[in-house]
Amino acid sequence: MKCTKPMTTLLCAAQFCLAAMASAAPLSITLPPETAVFKPNALPGYPLAQQKCSTCHSADYINFQPPGMSLAQWTGEASKMQHVYGAPISDQDVNIIGAYLAVTYGSAHASDADVQAASTSATPVAKSDTMALLQSNSCLSCHAIDHKVVGPAYHDVAAKYANDPQALAKVSSSIQQGGTGKWGDVPMPPFTQLSPDDLKTLATFVLHQ
Ligand code: HEC
Ligand code: HEC
Repeated sequence: MKCTKPMTTLLCAAQFCLAAMASAAPLSITLPPETAVFKPNALPGYPLAQQKCSTCHSADYINFQPPGMSLAQWTGEASKMQHVYGAPISDQDVNIIGAYLAVTYGSAHASDADVQAASTSATPVAKSDTMALLQSNSCLSCHAIDHKVVGPAYHDVAAKYANDPQALAKVSSSIQQGGTGKWGDVPMPPFTQLSPDDLKTLATFVLHQ
């Protein structure tokens, strides 16, 4: 199926028109099948892209990009989703998804050293669990990584405990019990419903900032 420019709005599904306009509007586009999905491969970014890149728009947006984009360009694309459009993905997700996209849709190869580094730099599942925990418990409405909000910057908490061998236990307990007086007069609410594993995940994350 084909649609030419002036007829676009009348003939195309709205989603495809937006996609066409977003990607530098070619004069004539051939619509992909409506079931467009991410092309499978063995890279860890594949399941991550399926999970994180289909919430706002379909995989068609990927297909509309020019062929031959590099690792840096695809990673930039994922990073733009994160920073400009607020996609809920971590920096690590950006790298892992960028590597998958660059190999699958661009000029990179799965054997490239930088692709392998980006894909294996991390345990994406653990990281996204952390983001899910931070989000579902509203931690980020009071904390940011690098500046004070209501509570201290996670970066400052990590610095405070940098030389403390008990850091993990103390910070886990601070998160569980909340409290006041360590950073100022504003209290942090307790999070007694979190499991020991979740507390450990959150404390580990904070201490690595
Ligand atoms: C929070 C919503 C959201 C998520 C999640 C999201 N995007 Fe997007 N994306 C957008 C918006 C908004 C546009 C601009 C679309 C438009 O103008 O119609 C866009 C456009 C694009 C485009 C077209 C080129 C461009 O730069 O505008 C590509 C490619 C793309 N997204 C890739 C991705 C990838 C890869 C992911 C997963 C890492 C992703 N998107 C996740 C919102 C999102
Ligand atoms: C309503 C706002 C609020 C929310 C929500 C919140 N915090 Fe806090 N947090 C604070 C404040 C305020 C402090 C400083 C408390 C003090 O001075 O003792 C703090 C302190 C901390 C500290 C430092 C503890 C220490 O021992 O120095 C950590 C770590 C922390 N928060 C993590 C978290 C995590 C993880 C979550 C989500 C599960 C969370 N916070 C949710 C407000 C909040």
